[in-house]
Amino acid sequence: MENFTFYSPTFFSFGKGMENEAGKLAKRFGATKILIHYGCGSVVRSGLLDRVKKSLDEENLPFVELGGVQPNPRSGLVYKGIDLCKKENIDFVLAVGGGSVIDSAKAIAAGTCYDGDFWDFYSGKYIEEAIPIGTILTIAAAGSEGSPDSVITNEDGMYKRGASGDAIRPKFSILNPELTQTLPPYQTACGITDIMAHLYERYLTNTKEVEVTDRLIEALLLTMIHEGPRVIEDPNNYEARANIMWAGMMAHNNSVGVGRSQDWNSHDIEHELSAKYDCAHGAGLAVTLPAIFTYVMKHDVMRFAKVATRVWGCQMDFDNPEATAKAGIEALRNFYISIGMPKNFDELGAKKEDIPQLVDTLCDGNGRPGYINGFVKLDKNDCTKIYELMI
Ligand code: NZQ
Ligand code: ZN
Repeated sequence: MENFTFYSPTFFSFGKGMENEAGKLAKRFGATKILIHYGCGSVVRSGLLDRVKKSLDEENLPFVELGGVQPNPRSGLVYKGIDLCKKENIDFVLAVGGGSVIDSAKAIAAGTCYDGDFWDFYSGKYIEEAIPIGTILTIAAAGSEGSPDSVITNEDGMYKRGASGDAIRPKFSILNPELTQTLPPYQTACGITDIMAHLYERYLTNTKEVEVTDRLIEALLLTMIHEGPRVIEDPNNYEARANIMWAGMMAHNNSVGVGRSQDWNSHDIEHELSAKYDCAHGAGLAVTLPAIFTYVMKHDVMRFAKVATRVWGCQMDFDNPEATAKAGIEALRNFYISIGMPKNFDELGAKKEDIPQLVDTLCDGNGRPGYINGFVKLDKNDCTKIYELMI
């Protein structure tokens, strides 16, 4: 196991009705004037936004609102939010929605404390300072409610990049599984896919003997395989929603990723797809993961065979471990298909002729060195072949 530090100071409030505590929690974490940030209307339609405002009113906390965050959140609205926070002397951002809303809120919170262009953080600068953030999560997926990360699409070129810093870890996150019951099945499935991808990104490691985190990841993957189909079949299954929601947080606050190298090539490869085609991040991952795993499997066949046997119940073929590894990748692909995810470029809305441009932006764009590097170092030729496997 490698040396590590782990700092996850978010206060979690989990369960039915917890959103009514938003005002109390915001006050507890020092808010005096709040920006409520939300998406394209689901929280208005569900009545959640009104309940949150009522909760702030009860604590005499003034607020301004900024809605309109699109999935794959855009830089333009971030600039608008930063201007608004500076003009209104906002000292707390409350994100009400999914990963896109939370990521946009994080970018606004960091940009408000910074004199330069907020995009510097998405070009590699570490975020040292941000106004505090709270979240009320409405979809189990990105894990942004417990992570120090934010992903934004730059509208000038339409490419996606991430930024990081402990300063943007939410001060509190309210997780009420009931709030996810209004999700369309497709979005629920996208979330399940993303959570499992976050686990795989950590499972694919070059660090030896990390049994404790291996076993934790396997437990979370098994939970997703059990609960995913149950919630797709019955969207009102509270217990399944609850297990998925907490698994989503644990998958990405890095408690199961400490002390080991991680991959993240799959996310880099997918981010080009959701930036260019505006598809859901989870849907892009469903197409990406089986392709990249097939391509890199030979780097460590036994690791793929291990997840195949321990998680997917495949029989270990000691004479041919590659067959076992492949069976595990097929099981993952079939699971994604079974919950309604796309399986190839066509179903995702991506185009074969765009591959050279996708590869250029992926490997060279925004100062990248001509390759991406995770579990395996992948150059442009490798990335081209991986995209071709998705056709
Ligand atoms: O905008 P509204 O109207 O709210 O609708 C949203 C949106 O259309 C809808 N939705 C959310 N909760 C709902 C609901 N509809 C009905 N009922 C509800 N309860 O769902 C759609 C998708 O929302 P979005 O926030 O985009 O989903 P998700 O949480 O999957 O976030 C995806 C974004 O997170 C980034 C992705 O790249 C993508 O941009 N990621 C962020 C990470 C992080 N910060 O740590 C890590 C992830 O790997 C990921 O890259
Ligand atoms: Zn993700």
